[in-house]
Amino acid sequence: MIEIIESRRTFHLQTRHTSLILHVLDSGHMVCLYWGGRVLDHSFSYIVKEIKRASYLSDTDGIKDFKLEQQPLTYPAYGNPDMRTPAFMFEYEDGSRITDLRYQSCKSYKGKRKLEGLPTVVSEECQVLELTLRDVAMKVEVVLTFAVFEEWDAITESVAVKNIGTKVIQIERLMSSCYSFLDCNFDLVTLTGAWGRECHFSRQPIRQGMFVLDSKRSASGHGQNPFLALAEPSADEEHGNVYSMNFVYSGNFEAGVEIDMHQNTRLMMGLNAFDFNWKLEADEVFQSPEVVMVHTKAGFGEMSRIYHRLYRDCLIQSKYAKQVRPVLFNSWEAAYFDFDKERLLVLAKEAANLGVELFVLDDGWYGKRNSEKGSLGDWIPNEKKMGGSLNELAKQVNALGMQFGLWFEPEMVSKDSRLYESHPEWIIRVKDHEPQLARYQYVLDLSRREVQDYIINAVSKVLDSANISYVKWDMNRNITDLGSFALPNDRQKEVSHRYMLGLYRILEVLTRRYPDVLWEGCAGGGGRFDAGILYYMPQIWTSDDTDAIERLDIQFGTSYVYPAIAMGCHVSESPNHQVGRKTSLGTRGLVAMQGNLGYEIDLLKTTNEEKTAIKRQIAAYKEMRHTIQNGTLYRLVHSENERAWMYCSEDGSRAYVSYVQILAKPNTVPKRLKLQGLQQGIHYIVDNGKETREGSALMEIGLALPKVSEDFYARQWQLTREE
Ligand code: DGJ
Repeated sequence: MIEIIESRRTFHLQTRHTSLILHVLDSGHMVCLYWGGRVLDHSFSYIVKEIKRASYLSDTDGIKDFKLEQQPLTYPAYGNPDMRTPAFMFEYEDGSRITDLRYQSCKSYKGKRKLEGLPTVVSEECQVLELTLRDVAMKVEVVLTFAVFEEWDAITESVAVKNIGTKVIQIERLMSSCYSFLDCNFDLVTLTGAWGRECHFSRQPIRQGMFVLDSKRSASGHGQNPFLALAEPSADEEHGNVYSMNFVYSGNFEAGVEIDMHQNTRLMMGLNAFDFNWKLEADEVFQSPEVVMVHTKAGFGEMSRIYHRLYRDCLIQSKYAKQVRPVLFNSWEAAYFDFDKERLLVLAKEAANLGVELFVLDDGWYGKRNSEKGSLGDWIPNEKKMGGSLNELAKQVNALGMQFGLWFEPEMVSKDSRLYESHPEWIIRVKDHEPQLARYQYVLDLSRREVQDYIINAVSKVLDSANISYVKWDMNRNITDLGSFALPNDRQKEVSHRYMLGLYRILEVLTRRYPDVLWEGCAGGGGRFDAGILYYMPQIWTSDDTDAIERLDIQFGTSYVYPAIAMGCHVSESPNHQVGRKTSLGTRGLVAMQGNLGYEIDLLKTTNEEKTAIKRQIAAYKEMRHTIQNGTLYRLVHSENERAWMYCSEDGSRAYVSYVQILAKPNTVPKRLKLQGLQQGIHYIVDNGKETREGSALMEIGLALPKVSEDFYARQWQLTREE
């Protein structure tokens, strides 16, 4: 709900449990008066009056005691007495960088439309508020758009810049959202790591100064997810205020937290200002990607559940958004590039016998690709290697009762490829430097329309040639040598964002053209696990690291924002190919069941005993998957040596609890695992046995944890409501 209290120039945005209050000061500056648990009051001007702190600067606008530096500005500018990091910066033809935005008008309506060319969280249900700010002298307007997802407890914000004058404006910095707190007692929470260790949860106190989390890779990146939260120091999984922002964008981003000398905190998120500039001609509009803002008083667990519901209901556009996902087999760690038709079909037969529903042929099926060294861009099936056409292979896989899926890496071109030979100008590069190769490949210049069309046509041609039900869309290197031969000198700093717009256009066209295909995003694992990609592709490969123990941190971290149904999680071989660790099949299966289960294992080497166990795992997962993929997640334990989590079904009739002990410890006390999300007074049958336990007892007293002298030990419990 949005309440516009015109007499007081106040805007009260309300979700089920939160309020965001914006206000126009007499000077026309916009301030954020409050963001937090829902309040019912209508008059908030006392908050403004009570903001009286020390300030070094003189009175703003010549008004006594009015100091901008003390105000929690909503969209702060540069060059005025605010003196903190601004939310935006423009440069004008005369070299001036000063913009003085004052409130102009507001507009409110129901139903949020998609942002043109950008992934967007959408719903007909939500209420939208547009606030227009204007710099009269420089002839520029900024429109802040807030959308209230009341039912989901979330608010989105994006910003559009309009050049209403006749001269060119250079946009140098443009945050999509900015919130100023009159407080600084927070912990900073991020999801950081590296390739193979994506999305590790990190928490640290913040101090006076500036903290910036960003990506300069033209991808959101393995190292830092575009997510940031400020939490009360006492906040935990179940309690406490948490304020978070997640960017619906897959390229260079910036998330900043600034604590100033007056102990105010400013939180911002948007396009990375580093190496960014956008030339805005007269009458043109630049639209920023959007930020999702989630606040809760109930800790990190509730924050995650809000994101999960919102993203399943309003972000993921695919028809598969809430449909249970097939158990898949992927050829990568089973065969890498080393396969022929015979090997593929033996693997497929084995997989089908185990209950696998989708057989995915990963890298190596096109051009003359037998290693990483060539052929990207030449999306012509290698019929010699596959002993026939893709269509024949797909039919044979289908005849085994499985769907057929295929890997692509369409944004790339190998130096050794026919595409590069005929179009060397199609890559991202600058004139006088030899462009860097990474994994023997260059990045195609997706800012060029003809390159976008090439990719759309090449992928479509393959998809039209065979019954392909699934596509894994990979992207294995980041952008260096940023530049485009197709853009003039004064637009070179637009390339990174134009690349993303090009990618989004390609994905929009292809996912609409092939709505029945299940699309899975990938960037060398989770190098682009973000809400932007999720808009188009309903699942993402979480990490190239398939080790069960490494995956605990990766998947736990990812689950802070993204729902289980979005996470690709596979059982691979032991010893693990990335870290050499040996873990039992049971532990690998249990950890992979935290998301969408798949297998990447050489079934030609698997023993009969292991096959029987895999068959059992798959059958059990099929029973559980609706609850895992669409249910409610509770992270129960996240300690150094133990992890536990559970999924509850929407109707409360079932729950699955998982526990992993990393290293066995001697002489420990008996421990119990307290559950969450169950119904009081309801009895649950534990593990289909004779014993039942009451919901509140399971939550307050808990389940006894086994005492096992085994490293990497895992245990799962099933709870079914007694009828
Ligand atoms: C990186 C991906 O993350 C892997 O799963 C695999 O598809 C390889 N690329 C193939 O080159």
